[in-house]
Amino acid sequence: MAIGQVFTPLPLARRVLDRVTARPLRILDPACGTGNFLRAAAERWPGAELVGFESDPAVAGIARQWLAVTIGSQAAGPGSRIEVRDALKCDVHPGFDLVCGNPPYAAAYRDPGDRAAIRQGHVTARGSFDMAVPFVERAVRWLAPGGWLALVVTNKLLVKDYAGPLRGWLLETVAIREIWDLAAVEVFEGAQVDAAVILAQRAEPGAIRIVLADKRHGQHEYRLDRSTWIQGAKSDQDVAGGRTASGPRRWEVYVTPTIAPVIERIRGPALGRLPGIAVRDGIQGRHYHEIPIEEGHPGGLPIVGVGRIEPGRIAWDKPLKRGGVLYRDPRLRVQGAFRTYCERPKVLIRGVARRVTAVYSQVPLVPLTAVRSIVFGTSGQLATVGRSQIDPRQLVSWLNSDLVSFLLQARCRGDRVPRGSFNISKRWLEELPVPPEPHVLSPDEQNAIREWLAAFGV
Ligand SMILES: C[S@@+](CC[C@H](N)C(=O)[O-])C[C@H]1O[C@@H](n2cnc3c(N)ncnc32)[C@H](O)[C@@H]1O
Repeated sequence: MAIGQVFTPLPLARRVLDRVTARPLRILDPACGTGNFLRAAAERWPGAELVGFESDPAVAGIARQWLAVTIGSQAAGPGSRIEVRDALKCDVHPGFDLVCGNPPYAAAYRDPGDRAAIRQGHVTARGSFDMAVPFVERAVRWLAPGGWLALVVTNKLLVKDYAGPLRGWLLETVAIREIWDLAAVEVFEGAQVDAAVILAQRAEPGAIRIVLADKRHGQHEYRLDRSTWIQGAKSDQDVAGGRTASGPRRWEVYVTPTIAPVIERIRGPALGRLPGIAVRDGIQGRHYHEIPIEEGHPGGLPIVGVGRIEPGRIAWDKPLKRGGVLYRDPRLRVQGAFRTYCERPKVLIRGVARRVTAVYSQVPLVPLTAVRSIVFGTSGQLATVGRSQIDPRQLVSWLNSDLVSFLLQARCRGDRVPRGSFNISKRWLEELPVPPEPHVLSPDEQNAIREWLAAFGV
């Protein structure tokens, strides 16, 4: 299967197009695959001109067969056609009343030369952009005034840094009508892709409808007035006072109006800015590949993998499996600066998990790759937050709270790994606000957070 060939189920294409409140006469799917979006469009607006671009001739052939029948029954209007072409390289002629579809998502364009050309030709293709980014930009450029954009995209576009320029550009160029995040449900059978839907119009802006699908196939929705949305989405101020690294802020669709006031109250500097501590990833390449693990070696330091980290304790009795070998007391003889880091008191956090799971340890140890650590200085085990001092144990109880799992999960919907876990990156942790005093939730707030966590499978 070529890059990005995951076809949209017809019922989803129908649901998306149901939200288009106009009668489009000219419709384009710039990466039409077998043509499911155009099919749904023909059902809904018989007689419209349907145009599909598709780079894979075999797949385009399937769409053509279907289209021939549809033209025969007059469900597709004059001029309808499927063209084999690279939609990222062809000229863009605006004039479509609806541009719909599910453009390919892939981290890299296969040919680096093509990637450079795409970067040149698109204002939003910056950094390590996904192909979906220039596709969305082009989709907008193909629109006629008043035209609708209705796209299924990777939900990474809502959060990732590389999509920051696209989010900013969309806010200025089109009126966003709806955003759906479908990360909690399997949209494409068998494919590990978290999807979102963006509906927008080249017209006057108005309210924005947010739709969230939960694990139980429930649907949560709310409306935002545009000014709140723009203010939130463009600011580079983090929700709770920290700063994001670059670009317009993530589109935090999971911060619903019921949850927003709870989050608003969390005040404190970002973890990565606290003096006297550092957030680090676990063991890095050189040590991991070059130093052999030795069972129980007295000169080595014990190794901690994610499986040994439990809330508030390290399960030293759990074996560690590496390269097909099971170790009861795995140790690594590390030297120099890395050893100094290993010997410092640390809070250890599972790097891939459904919930944030943290433990404090003063014992010298080696955290493995997927473990994040918050390292305290030698002088003492307290970090200073404003005028208060924060104890590692206080930090651990904050990290293990429902609220922190909620905060990180709600923001990381586009950075999930299979089976509902997500990647608790060093960066996400550095941005986490740390309240100087223990944060107290009312019973109602606690329930709201717990319900959210349960609904989204955390
Ligand atoms: C994710 S599929 C979606 C297809 C269809 N829009 C749907 O919703 O079912 C994306 C399609 O885009 C095609 N494609 C990939 N790169 C393309 C390009 N540069 N120009 C046109 N089509 C492309 C792939 O072959 C694939 O069929």
